[in-house]
Amino acid sequence: MKVLFYAAKVYDKKSFGNVLGQFPEITIDYIDPELEPRTAVLAKGYDAVCAFVSADVGAETLTILKDCGVMAVLMRCAGFNNVDVEKAKELGIIVKRVPGYSPESVAELAMALALAVNRRLYKAYNKVRENDYTLKGLRGVNFYGKTAGIVGTGKIGAAMCRICRGFGMRVIAYDVYQNPALSDFVEYVTMDELLAQSDLISLHCPLMDSTYHMINIESIKKMKDGVILVNTSRGALVNTQELIEGIRLNKFLGVGLDVYEEETGNVYEDRSDDIMEHSVTARLLAFPNVMITSHQGFYTLEALAAIAETTLQNLMDAKEGKRTPNDVA
Ligand code: NAI
Repeated sequence: MKVLFYAAKVYDKKSFGNVLGQFPEITIDYIDPELEPRTAVLAKGYDAVCAFVSADVGAETLTILKDCGVMAVLMRCAGFNNVDVEKAKELGIIVKRVPGYSPESVAELAMALALAVNRRLYKAYNKVRENDYTLKGLRGVNFYGKTAGIVGTGKIGAAMCRICRGFGMRVIAYDVYQNPALSDFVEYVTMDELLAQSDLISLHCPLMDSTYHMINIESIKKMKDGVILVNTSRGALVNTQELIEGIRLNKFLGVGLDVYEEETGNVYEDRSDDIMEHSVTARLLAFPNVMITSHQGFYTLEALAAIAETTLQNLMDAKEGKRTPNDVA
């Protein structure tokens, strides 16, 4: 079976190359362009395409893929908000993803961001490099004894709950379903209670109509002053303009973002020579209490290995018509 692998990076070729030997029926061609309507036609003659978080797997792309004879879209990620699931079903294109490759890889980055903005590690690093050993602007707070509010307690949220417990924090959570594995130390509360009580809020729910802009000026006003907000889930969970308004109201001790609304054109690109004319991201970065990373939650050795193996197994399952929990469509 032939796979066309879009937006391939060096690390993708390495991690997929490491497991390809386990799947002798599969061959992969790696290409640089992102999957979108203009590039979908390149998939002519392939059985499947492999795509990532910034691909445009909307109706137009799917229709072209169908005309090219593609039977499966393999998402090498957990989220699938960029896939038109209904259209894929209508066209009979199988879409599979990798839901739980390494929850700790994302949860550990969420805690790293929380610690970095709390103790201003990005500032401290640069200050010491410039022979400035003063402590100005570096004061943080203890996490020990504070309250962590986790929104979404699936695989990654549950890992984040365990990490916060390890820091000696009280852990409260909001989810539409309660995770029984966490019942011994997590207290489920309403979203409003979570906003009002948490010193650290970390978002771990998927992007859906019901979660779009769940963090907005109304929800920010319900938060404690001096709260830390971390988003490693999807950018559009947070209304960026209203987050900026909240930062200006001095609501936040720190904001750590691995994902943000404007990221699509940026993710994994070097744009250091570009002038970002209308960028709200640039405005966010001007604040001393904000740290942004570029969608690197999944980027650990363990997670990459698991993504590669599961993605290729997904193709084998698709070929055999096997329905699994990794099915999106
Ligand atoms: P999961 O499916 O195991 O858990 C998601 C949880 O969110 C579920 O418990 C679900 O009930 C809950 N949820 C659904 N609607 C909700 C709502 N309205 N309010 C509160 N909770 C709600 O997903 P997993 O694996 O934990 O991933 C979570 C998200 O993390 C993914 O959707 C993806 O967007 C993001 N992600 C980010 C990565 C990165 O590199 N930064 C890598 C992998 C995932």
